[in-house]
Order: sequence, then C-alpha cells, then structure tokens
Amino acid sequence: MNHAQNVQFLSAWFRNPRQAGALLPSGSSLAQAMAAQVDPGRGLVVELGVGTGAITRALIARGVREDQLILVEKDPALFGEMEGRFPGVVALRGDAAHLGRLLNQAGVGCPGTLVSSLPLLSMTRRQRLRVLIQIFSSLGVGGVLVQFTYSPLPPIPEVLAAALGVSGRRVARVFSNLPPAAVWVYQVHSPR
Ligand SMILES: C[S@@+](CC[C@H](N)C(=O)[O-])C[C@H]1O[C@@H](n2cnc3c(N)ncnc32)[C@H](O)[C@@H]1O
Repeated sequence: MNHAQNVQFLSAWFRNPRQAGALLPSGSSLAQAMAAQVDPGRGLVVELGVGTGAITRALIARGVREDQLILVEKDPALFGEMEGRFPGVVALRGDAAHLGRLLNQAGVGCPGTLVSSLPLLSMTRRQRLRVLIQIFSSLGVGGVLVQFTYSPLPPIPEVLAAALGVSGRRVARVFSNLPPAAVWVYQVHSPR
C-alpha cells in the first residue's frame, strides 16, 4: 500500500470515521486472505466498500476477471479514485443499503460472491440490518458473503445471523494486519 493511498484513506476517516471503519486501508495479507475465499468459477463477484482497492487488486490477482467484478463504494472521493484505478471494472457509487437497486440499475445479475469490507459493527443496528437484508437477498443460490472484522466477535451477531437464515464460520485470522483481523464466510441456509 502506498503513501498516497494511506493519506486518501485517512482523509476518508476524517470525513466520516464510522463509515471508514478504520484508520488504514486493508493490508496485503488481509486482502489475500479475503481473495483466497473467492472461487472465480462461481460467477459474478461484487465488492462492497472498496476504499483504496487493496482487496480489488488481490481479487484480480486471484483470477477474478475484470468483466466479472462489480465495485461498490459510498464515499465520493474514494469512489473517484477507485474509478480511475480500475477503468475496466464496473464501478457503482452508492450505499450498500440500496444494493438491490444499484445492481438492477446497472443491469447486473445475481452475484455468486459478495466480498465486503463494510464496517458492519460500526453501523447502527438499523443500518446494519438494512445492509444485511440487501446483501443476502442479492446473493444467488449457493452464494457466499466474505467479510472481515477487526473484532474478536463475529461480524454478524449470531442471533442476527440466525434470524437472517445464514450461517458463518471464521476461516482465517490475519495477525499481521494493522489492526489484526479475521475473515468470515457466510452462506444462506438451503430451504428445507
Ligand atoms: C474498512 S474500509 C475499506 C478498506 C478497503 N478494503 C481498503 O483497503 O481500502 C470500509 C469502506 O467501506 C465504505 N463504506 C462504508 N459504508 C458503506 C456503505 N453503506 N456502502 C458502501 N460503502 C461503504 C467506506 O467508505 C470505506 O471505503
């Protein structure tokens, strides 16, 4: 991660600390641990909360093609930088709480994987619920959500995950990231 990108991210934190969710962008080991959970053969990949694009680069290095990747970012300045950084990728500026509408307007089908850096635990409960309902209703059958957290607790509280009909497991811990992080994968339960 270069100095200019750290400064851009820090500026986003000053504009809105809760929305940025961290002082620094994701480190490369965290980005690789997130990308390792993505099967490029599982169709469309939507990345939520792209920030400086650390995870985007790891997804492309993992073999996700630019034409199967959709980027979503809410912060206008980070969005502008991101568009310039990944000109071959569809980039949508907006709130993940309106994910269904954003994808529909862009004529994008059902993602097989959502990769999220959204600071779920910094959101109000109401905002988090809106975002999670959008996430799990946008995913196709068998789709997965890959999410990281800086908390020792799950990024989606267990009671809420059960209410949403999803189950999650921690798949990696990245102690070298600043701050240390854990990667979780969530799947929608099959209907009985
Ligand atoms: C922890 S940072 C992302 C770090 C990113 N992986 C990087 O390396 O820069 C969280 C990102 O999510 C974005 N974000 C927060 N809430 C959002 C929302 N509701 N919809 C879309 N993006 C959001 C923030 O603007 C920020 O870029």
